[in-house]
Amino acid sequence: MRKIKIPTLHPNQEIVVNSTKRHRVVACGRRFGKTTLGIYDILRAAAIRRQTCWWIAPTYGMTDHVWRELKAACADTDQVAIHQDMQRLDFPGGGSITLHSAHTPDHLRGAGLDFVVLDEAAFLAPEVWPQVVRPMLLERKGRALFLSSPNGKNWFWEIYQNGVQNRRTWRSFHYTSYDNPLIDPAELDLFRHQTTERIWSTEYLAEFSDHRGQVFRGIHEAAIVPFQAGPITGIRYVAGIDWGRDNDATAIVLIDADRQQVVALDHFTGVSWALQRGRVMKFYDHWGPSLILAESNSIGSPNIEALRDEGLPIRPFVTSAASKSPLIDALALAIERRDLTLLPDETLLGELAAYTAERLPGGGWRYNAAPGQHDDLVIALALAWHAARTGGPSIDFA
Ligand SMILES: Nc1ncnc2c1ncn2[C@@H]1O[C@H](COP(=O)(O)OP(=O)(O)OP(=O)(O)O)[C@@H](O)[C@H]1O
Ligand SMILES: [Mg+2]
Repeated sequence: MRKIKIPTLHPNQEIVVNSTKRHRVVACGRRFGKTTLGIYDILRAAAIRRQTCWWIAPTYGMTDHVWRELKAACADTDQVAIHQDMQRLDFPGGGSITLHSAHTPDHLRGAGLDFVVLDEAAFLAPEVWPQVVRPMLLERKGRALFLSSPNGKNWFWEIYQNGVQNRRTWRSFHYTSYDNPLIDPAELDLFRHQTTERIWSTEYLAEFSDHRGQVFRGIHEAAIVPFQAGPITGIRYVAGIDWGRDNDATAIVLIDADRQQVVALDHFTGVSWALQRGRVMKFYDHWGPSLILAESNSIGSPNIEALRDEGLPIRPFVTSAASKSPLIDALALAIERRDLTLLPDETLLGELAAYTAERLPGGGWRYNAAPGQHDDLVIALALAWHAARTGGPSIDFA
């Protein structure tokens, strides 16, 4: 048997592979079928045109996935030599495919190439294409296929503009996740309702927005809760606490869980842990929340234990990169949808406005306060909202 299995493409993928431009830039929503399209194209180039080809992706995990797919495509033939250690396939007649992850661009140097696929190109370092890969295409007039979901207006956006402006050898393509006919649009519609505007427009509509995206939208529109001096009988209150570290304040935010409003907050710094716990106890005595969810990392645990010993209904929440994202996404969605309204507190609104998201290769986001800004109230609020929605840490992502 000599057969290599290639995927059957959907019509929008066909449009891309049928273009004869040397440089094709494909900006797509998640699950459009970018990687599948690249695999199809690189297999044809190596097996039929006998070309020297590279596949470059930002992480090992991403090249590994493609490596498995390529080996599976060649599983029915003994004509393709598989070099596991180099992640390289040699085809009869001289064509080859080598996989590279672009952790260290210097390792990428090599001989001349006929064809290169840059998968999730927007997450590669900006110098990889102009300084490392492009020179390798010179002598053979090699072709490049750039596949990615957008990552702000970075270098991928710039090369995308080449195609938009119809530069001679360039063509750009833009597809949303809806342009994959294999995905039921009703599924995407449903998903859209559970997703913030920022994530939806970047990841699914493939829009090029600013790189360091603002996480919380509609903050001022949501800041409509009147000042309230004390609790209302019969209302269920919950709170979230983020403990101060070094320069940060300890923050506590209280939510009226029945009407889904932020009704009180406090933040304080520069005093001993015993005094800080005293202030939390005072806050508790005044508002009487039925649940307090507190960050338990580092200094959190002993403080939580001490307050629990005092009889406070306090529970720990471990914040990690993995547990933080869903917490922040849920809060952003609630504010955007006006499911949660806020006190017009300048510090709270300022922290929310300065909170930023950065896209990570292959999906996912890293959330942080902008440099020099604080996020204690943001985290305390996110914990309080988690407590209001779920009744506590029973759904714990840690
Ligand atoms: N033409 C096709 N025929 C059948 N299945 C396909 C086709 N194109 C893509 N798929 C399937 O759809 C899913 C998404 O495809 P793929 O991984 O290529 O998309 P992607 O745009 O690279 O996604 P991601 O945004 O997750 O990187 C995969 O399960 C893949 O096998
Ligand atoms: Mg992909």
